[in-house]
Amino acid sequence: DRPLRLGIAGLGTVGASLARLVTARAQTYALRAGRPIEIAAVCARDRSKDRGVDLSGAQWFDDPVALASQAEIDVFVELVGGSEGAALDSVKAALNRGLTVVTANKALLAHHGVSLARLAHKKGATILFEAAVAGGIPIIKTMREALRGNATSRVYGILNGTCNYMLTRMEKEGIAFEDVLADAQRLGYAEADPTFDIGGFDAAHKLAILTSLAFGCEIDLESIFVEGISSVTTADIEAAEELGYRIKLLAVAQRTESGIEQRVHPTMIPAASALAQIDGVTNAVAIDTDLLGSILLAGPGAGGDATASAVLSDVIDAARGVRLPALGVEPARLAPYKRARMRAH
Ligand code: NAP
Ligand code: HSE
Repeated sequence: DRPLRLGIAGLGTVGASLARLVTARAQTYALRAGRPIEIAAVCARDRSKDRGVDLSGAQWFDDPVALASQAEIDVFVELVGGSEGAALDSVKAALNRGLTVVTANKALLAHHGVSLARLAHKKGATILFEAAVAGGIPIIKTMREALRGNATSRVYGILNGTCNYMLTRMEKEGIAFEDVLADAQRLGYAEADPTFDIGGFDAAHKLAILTSLAFGCEIDLESIFVEGISSVTTADIEAAEELGYRIKLLAVAQRTESGIEQRVHPTMIPAASALAQIDGVTNAVAIDTDLLGSILLAGPGAGGDATASAVLSDVIDAARGVRLPALGVEPARLAPYKRARMRAH
């Protein structure tokens, strides 16, 4: 069978893991995909950097937009990051060619998801984004596919691995904020600009995507109340512990009488609750639905291999010709909704 030709833009934490796995597990993935998967083109800023994988057979591009517009590929994998510039322009270029786009870029989708979904729809293209929310946890497939028969009333959880890793180590080892942030960056958990993590914005990007999937509405990043963990100290964490609570950065979207409320903020939660047990880089997403009741999915929320796991599921779907409407529903059927109320917490 004809190989599926990947163009991978971005060979950092996630892109390099993906390239290594596609190469090392080629036979297994060919069986699962029904045809070989080959890396036809790659792109990064620094051509000389060792990525831990032999990419000499792939065409090298310095510019993601050039790769997306010119390379002979079937799937464009965007792992560059950022909501504008190279990420946005390259994804648009790939969609304009009718290519399948696979991305882990929640910032891009939170800012431009609806217009990109419309472009994909118009061009007969597809955007797959399992890795964009909660790292390796299969939350997008769960919400887009497995829960289709349900009405969702609330989706909430721990959506940022860096913050949860930091809060856990601050609590258990008494390590200062700055030191533990440096470790999260070294381990590849943090965003290129870690302000997105500690400021709560990364969790807000992910929440905006989940809200759209849960409620079939347009992504509305602006209406999310966002407070990060920058002002949380080890003294706060100790005080919470004495009262029987743990502090977690929670992201919550729920249906209320006045619209869909979306918020991200540090929250004291009872130490005995399931979410309080989620430690380290682990994420957890709880979904309340009418038919199924409540479910909780937990697993690694960041890191190269964990995130590549989710990207690979999309790549294998692409090889098998899976075509789902971007953002869960056809763009034309996305419902606008009342602006979320900002609620004190
Ligand atoms: P990263 O380590 O910073 O890697 C970014 C890659 O993109 C690098 O290879 C870099 O090239 C390349 N790049 C950046 N700007 C470029 C440009 N203008 N032209 C050409 N190449 C460019 O980022 P990452 O952690 O892998 O994250 C990638 C995406 O996945 C982001 O959207 C992020 O939010 C998302 N994500 C990350 C994780 C995670 O755990 N890290 C988890 C889920 C989702 P050089 O290597 O040459 O500098
Ligand atoms: N920086 C993100 C996090 C990566 O720490 O959760 C996964 O999206």
